[in-house]
Amino acid sequence: MERHNKLMQTPVTVVILAAGLGTRMKSRKAKVLHRAGGRTLIEHAVATALQLAPPERICVVVGHQGDQVRAAVRTPGIGFVEQKEQKGTGHALLVGREVLEPLGGYLVIMYGDGPLLRVETLRRLIDKVEDDAGALLTALLDDPTGYGRIIRGDACDDDSIQAIVEQKAATPEQLRIREANMGIYCYRSELFWKHAGEIRANNPAGEYYLTDMVEILRAAGHGIRALRIDDAREALGINNRIELAEADRLLRERKLRQLMLDGVTIEKPETVTVDPDVSIGADTIIGPFAQILGKTRMGEDCRVGACSIIEDSEIGDAVEIGPFTFVRASQVERAAQIGPFARLRFGNLVEEGAHVGNFVELKKAHLGAGSKANHLAYLGDTEIGARSNIGAGTITCNYDGMHKHQTIIGKQAFVGSNSTLVAPLEIGDGAYLGAGSVITDAVPPDALALGRARQVIKPGWAAKRKQRG
Ligand code: UD1
Ligand code: CA
Repeated sequence: MERHNKLMQTPVTVVILAAGLGTRMKSRKAKVLHRAGGRTLIEHAVATALQLAPPERICVVVGHQGDQVRAAVRTPGIGFVEQKEQKGTGHALLVGREVLEPLGGYLVIMYGDGPLLRVETLRRLIDKVEDDAGALLTALLDDPTGYGRIIRGDACDDDSIQAIVEQKAATPEQLRIREANMGIYCYRSELFWKHAGEIRANNPAGEYYLTDMVEILRAAGHGIRALRIDDAREALGINNRIELAEADRLLRERKLRQLMLDGVTIEKPETVTVDPDVSIGADTIIGPFAQILGKTRMGEDCRVGACSIIEDSEIGDAVEIGPFTFVRASQVERAAQIGPFARLRFGNLVEEGAHVGNFVELKKAHLGAGSKANHLAYLGDTEIGARSNIGAGTITCNYDGMHKHQTIIGKQAFVGSNSTLVAPLEIGDGAYLGAGSVITDAVPPDALALGRARQVIKPGWAAKRKQRG
């Protein structure tokens, strides 16, 4: 309890190292700008850090493509330090000294390329420091090649460690150690900075190794503890595109598991994609291969059909979205039905109980409550009142080749099939448009408008033609 209080009282500063290029990605783009689980890697690291510290206490060390990395971190208030030349993980900290040292508290160090790390684990790591100078995350790896190896103390029952030996500097015996340094640390800021200047670039790589801090602090009489995690995958850094795909899979799986625990049914979850910021209400059912993306918020009791894509949209309760439907930047109110095979391009509002059927495209369209556009229509820049019926094949001609124009249709109007509505145009409440009409002029409320050639009958014409041969 006492320790818990201490954790609450001592502020946390987080530094995220993200200056490297990541050569093994074979990319022109810096590694932390690649995406997994619906976000860039740097956004994942920042999102985790934000659960530990306010933005003013978070600092990202940038180098390669620093401007793009800064731009990818969209939370205001987060600090950046530029590491022009990457002279090692220790050097990355030292270039941030001026910003970081005055912040004090606990100094949590993590990498920008480890998107799977959980905030709970970082909290346990901070807790682990107790009265020592710091703690770090370790894991037992089947193949620890490339990782720093953990040299434990003589007493095998405590958590203290003596040193980290980097792969390149390790003896054959040390290389057999399977306990690896995950590169995630928590130090008492004051002790860290008191000794950070003692890091030397006296190793085969000629780099300033952050890992040297363990021996440096021990030489000064302080202890460092290891927190060994059971699932090493959580702390894995992404080095290549195979690991990127694996991280993507694990992050997606995490999001879906959380949704399922919160009451959402997901059919064939291995095929479904849901972005991290999406929220979905209980008893909603998501069909196979659906993608729910961006900032979408979806209510309860909805149904999303197979292969539908919903992005940055607000979906009310009990909305039914049929299979193969696309909804972007739109609002769909309670109990509306969309699809199958519908496309809501952007800027649409579909009110309560309205229907949008197959092969109907909406763009900046407002469909009033209970209105229906059930088949094969294009409704763009259009306002439609409540309980109107838009017949199959209706097209709003909103574009004259230069400008976009509005079509306004009142409530309880009936637009006959295959109507062509040439905007700008206003159709009054309760008006009727005959099927196949080309409507160019305003139609008053409750009127019938016909805009088509009158039918002509020529009796016997076809029979005579046949006789002629
Ligand atoms: C580091 C650790 C190693 C650990 C491993 C875990 C050191 C010396 N070694 O090795 O013990 O097992 O991480 O993944 O720390 N970075 C900078 N600036 C630099 C150098 C690195 O910002 O000058 C960033 C990189 O972008 C990367 C992270 O720090 O995100 C780790 O750097 P990397 O070179 O991959 O360290 P490793 O050799 O893997
Ligand atoms: Ca690495």
